[in-house]
Amino acid sequence: MLSALLVYRFLKFIAVAAFFAGIVGTFSATDRETRRRWADRHAAPGFVLTWILGTVLATTRGDSLVSRWIVGAVIASSIAIWATLAQAHLVPDKSRALSMAGSLGFVVALALMVFRP
Ligand code: HEM
Repeated sequence: MLSALLVYRFLKFIAVAAFFAGIVGTFSATDRETRRRWADRHAAPGFVLTWILGTVLATTRGDSLVSRWIVGAVIASSIAIWATLAQAHLVPDKSRALSMAGSLGFVVALALMVFRP
């Protein structure tokens, strides 16, 4: 019998992968239309599902949603999605600063999830 926790974790990994693919796709695309598609169809839904499944995981395990590692991941992943959506919808030319904010925000969130300081 598959444990619910394992199913949530599996679904969470898929959501995190979609979030990451959307960030990479948005910042490596060469035209605005493609950037928007990666941001709107991968980064944004991946981000929302990551948070929903993260909250379900935390509740199932009994983790406090105000734990340092979760609050840190909430802040870091918010920076990542804002930078990605800004590149896709607000900034016409490729922005190195937004690309740095997008990838660094994602990596920091991931590190907090694995090391849980
Ligand atoms: C509201 C935001 C979030 C909450 C409440 C949350 C909650 C959690 C919880 C409770 C776990 C432990 C699951 C377990 O060990 O069974 C976990 C694991 C994980 N989370 Fe999150 N998470 C959130 C956001 C994120 C974000 C933004 C990312 C990626 C950028 C992420 C990536 C991961 C990964 C990769 C794991 C597995 C770590 C491991 O197995 O060592 N999470 N998350």
